[in-house]
Amino acid sequence: MTLENKEAWGSRVGLVLAMAGNAVGLGNFLRFPAQAIQNGGGAFIIPYLVCFLLMGLPMLYVEWATGRFGGKTGNHSTPYIFGSLDKRAIWKYLGVLGLFTNLGICAYYTYIEAWTMSWAWHSAAGHFMGMNADQVAGFFTSYINLETSEPILMWVLCVGVNTYILSRGLQKGVEMAAKIGMPLLLLFGVILAIRGVTMTAGEQGASFSGVLGLNFLWTPDFSTIWTPKVWLSAAGQIFFTLSLGMGSIHCYSSYVKPKDDIALNAMSAGWMNEFVEVVLGSAIIIPIAVGYLGIDKVAQMTAAGSGLSLGFQTLPYLFTQWGPFLSAAAGIMWFGLLFFAGITSSLAMGTPGLAFLEDRFGWDRRWAAFAFGGAVLLLGIPCVLSQEAFGEFDYWAGTISLVVFSLAEVILFAWVFGMEKGWAEINAGADIKVPIVFKYVIKYVTPVILLVVFVGSLPSIWATIMKPMTFQVALARGLMLGMFLGLLALVHFSDKRKVTP
Ligand code: PHE
Repeated sequence: MTLENKEAWGSRVGLVLAMAGNAVGLGNFLRFPAQAIQNGGGAFIIPYLVCFLLMGLPMLYVEWATGRFGGKTGNHSTPYIFGSLDKRAIWKYLGVLGLFTNLGICAYYTYIEAWTMSWAWHSAAGHFMGMNADQVAGFFTSYINLETSEPILMWVLCVGVNTYILSRGLQKGVEMAAKIGMPLLLLFGVILAIRGVTMTAGEQGASFSGVLGLNFLWTPDFSTIWTPKVWLSAAGQIFFTLSLGMGSIHCYSSYVKPKDDIALNAMSAGWMNEFVEVVLGSAIIIPIAVGYLGIDKVAQMTAAGSGLSLGFQTLPYLFTQWGPFLSAAAGIMWFGLLFFAGITSSLAMGTPGLAFLEDRFGWDRRWAAFAFGGAVLLLGIPCVLSQEAFGEFDYWAGTISLVVFSLAEVILFAWVFGMEKGWAEINAGADIKVPIVFKYVIKYVTPVILLVVFVGSLPSIWATIMKPMTFQVALARGLMLGMFLGLLALVHFSDKRKVTP
């Protein structure tokens, strides 16, 4: 095993943008607004911010520090990054979750990413003009029901683009994509957000304003704040949006040079994500939708959905009200923004798997990228064919696995590796002074919160397992289980293999 990093980030700006791009994703623009609405708007925001401070920020420090530490021993995937903190095999095998989650999420995530490509194109070509609300909604329904081959072709193209960028290597691929995608995303986001909060509209005699939607979200509602569901949703959102508990932050951080700062960089990327989520994410889709339709209708529409329907069915229709030119521009900006948000995240999901194949099997980056693309296409098939299967992937890989993984890693970091060493690791090379309170939060508060979140999720896990399985669900679970066992086997096998540096 070589001890030197074959690859490293080209610049500090590139690293922070790549990490911010990792975190900023579809979750910021589609998942966050939907979560906020489903949890009563104002009731959501306080638990959300508390989870950010007591769990999000501490875990960012833990993951960045763990990753950089693992990188020093030439390891870039979580089984071996964990293994560098403690030699006992259990940690290495728990680290497999960090490969599992990324692949599992990527399977359905790239599919949504492909929709954004389609929708940007349909907006630019003016295809939504002249359609009424039902027709725009129906257009999406027939798309996801695979009535044409477009979704599949787009998806293959999208996975192909991801594979290509990954094959170009860290600096020329991932870092460059972030340097182009993130500034454009911010530009589009700011323009749409200004439009969102300044508009007044209304349908059928009613008059609403975009600000109404913002108020709904940002007026704390203390009466319902103590419901466990709200807290679990807030914690889940913090995990998902910051890409915590996934293994992708570790992987990116393992390419940081050993003496480089992580304390300030982690904060820059983390806060940038929060800016995009709570400022831009809450100022586009909700205000525009509420501006036309009012809170009740929007709440009703998102009741069970994930924000996908607001984003892909409602918004393109509302844009058509702005006339042909502006609606095309708005559509390109909105779906372009989603595309950049998506691709900079799916690249982050790809990197750990690539690193694993390179580190442990000596694969060339290009072959590793192909293997990744192939795996995503295989795993994504059930998600493309059935929304139920899609939901299964989101639940097991995108929700439950993160909690288990995070709980394991915080125990490993603070209690097995040890908080003294851990604290030194966080502060090594730091360009800011990390407030000492985080040392105690990481050691005592975060693990307890994670434990509570884990125990709190058990009823839902139980209920999910107990529900009768349809064929699609069984297929999705079978594939996920197969992938997990396969990854365990690969880790096991690669250890038996003699690796010549
Ligand atoms: N954080 C990303 C989002 O908000 C999702 C993501 C998951 C990114 C896993 C990387 C790894 O959409």
